[in-house]
Amino acid sequence: MRVPLIAGNWKMNTTISEAVELVGKLLRELDEIDNVDKVLCPPFVSLATVGKLIKGSSIKLGAQNLYSAEKGAYTGEISPLMLADLCEFVIIGHSERRQYFNETDEIINKKVPAALKVGLKPILCIGERLEENEAGLTEEVVTRQLRLALTGIDNLNGMIIAYEPVWAIGTGKAATGEQTNQTIRLSRRHLSELYGKETAQDLRILYGGSVTADNATEFMQQPEIDGALVGGASLKADQFLSIVKQTSRIRQVK
Ligand code: PGA
Repeated sequence: MRVPLIAGNWKMNTTISEAVELVGKLLRELDEIDNVDKVLCPPFVSLATVGKLIKGSSIKLGAQNLYSAEKGAYTGEISPLMLADLCEFVIIGHSERRQYFNETDEIINKKVPAALKVGLKPILCIGERLEENEAGLTEEVVTRQLRLALTGIDNLNGMIIAYEPVWAIGTGKAATGEQTNQTIRLSRRHLSELYGKETAQDLRILYGGSVTADNATEFMQQPEIDGALVGGASLKADQFLSIVKQTSRIRQVK
């Protein structure tokens, strides 16, 4: 049985004091929900503060990126070891990083094992662009991204995948539950070819892209979708709480 996971990707939003305020609105109610994993991914500068606020609760912490080297002369970068001290999860290969910071599949393929090596759980993002979707290339793109990101990695322990069609991110134009379920099923089949059926069945695959309180149920009802990576709606306490609560409720009957 895969435990659903809802992660809030705050992206480059919130000052430290705004982060404190947002956690204050989430803490008690999120903490009470025990059949869903809840992960907050604030900006780097707020990780330590948010970590202290959620300490002792059931809420978990994630970073939004990392650099693959352990340490050294890489001005401005954050290493896996530094993060391992602070948090449990790390988002890797988000489409905004691919698009604006030239992250290639090869770079992502260095980051994933670097995270796993220090015990961080990667939330690896994959997903096709609009023109690829329209050209019917979704399956080809996501399987290629998976294969390239995971090349040379034998053990997927702790790994999480987030399927995020680029055209659905921040656009208010979410995919449908059914479409997503189908793409995730294909991704799982591909992972099963690479890693065996059991590993693929145990691996959590999330959906991301304009998830809100209004459409969360549609996604969470699908058997292949194990949770969500939520951007914009994770900055609004009532929205995020509602998404987690809907997931919890569906999980009880699923
Ligand atoms: P969105 O972002 O929910 O604002 O579309 C999702 C993401 O980028 O992870």
